[in-house]
Amino acid sequence: STEQTPPRGAFIVFEGVDRCGKTTQCNKLMEHLKAKDLSAELWRFPDRSTESGKRINAYLAKEVEMSDEEVHLLFAQNRWEKRQTLLDKLAAGTTLVVDRYAYSGIAYSSAKGKDTMSLEWCKAPDQTLPAPDLVLYLEVSAEAAKARGGFGGERYETADFQEKVAEMFEQQKNAVWVSLDADDSPDEVHDRVKAEVDRTLTTLKDFTWLPVLR
Ligand code: TYD
Repeated sequence: STEQTPPRGAFIVFEGVDRCGKTTQCNKLMEHLKAKDLSAELWRFPDRSTESGKRINAYLAKEVEMSDEEVHLLFAQNRWEKRQTLLDKLAAGTTLVVDRYAYSGIAYSSAKGKDTMSLEWCKAPDQTLPAPDLVLYLEVSAEAAKARGGFGGERYETADFQEKVAEMFEQQKNAVWVSLDADDSPDEVHDRVKAEVDRTLTTLKDFTWLPVLR
């Protein structure tokens, strides 16, 4: 038969500090993909619906206390729980748009600056999970983040901590990483997102395997 197997879906991750505009950009990208008639799903980590996710949610809401090491492993577990489903979706041709992934896990934990939690230690639990085809990093200035309105009451939502998180994101830049100036208008950012995603979708036609996190 001359029938071709459809290319696998693209694995696209959005990253950035709190209030960088990820949610808006994820939603706009989903509309773009739907308009192109592509099969796509929007995911987010932490996935607060699973057992580990419920514990993470309670931790973030400051309802329970946990050691920094313990909660770090819990966030990683929350991703490992979804590994097989993620691979199955991509193989079936569904593109995944994922709001936060292992890079957040590593940035938020290592930003705590603990001796017991080096960057290498923080990276270890996520190693060999599927690696994304594209990381869209929304880079926001401290001034712009503040102008966007106050932080909520969850853990980590202070300007000082967010600045450290941004530094730890910067240290993780790699070949599939694209930084976007998130101080621009949502439509301007979306135009760049669209261009990067469309480019990535084109390259997938001869790139069927999926690398893993190193
Ligand atoms: P999220 O649900 O994306 O919240 P928001 O919509 O407010 O950005 O993430 C909740 C918090 O958890 C956020 O401060 C980032 C942090 N986080 C980690 O510390 N480790 C992780 O592995 C992930 C995915 C998120």
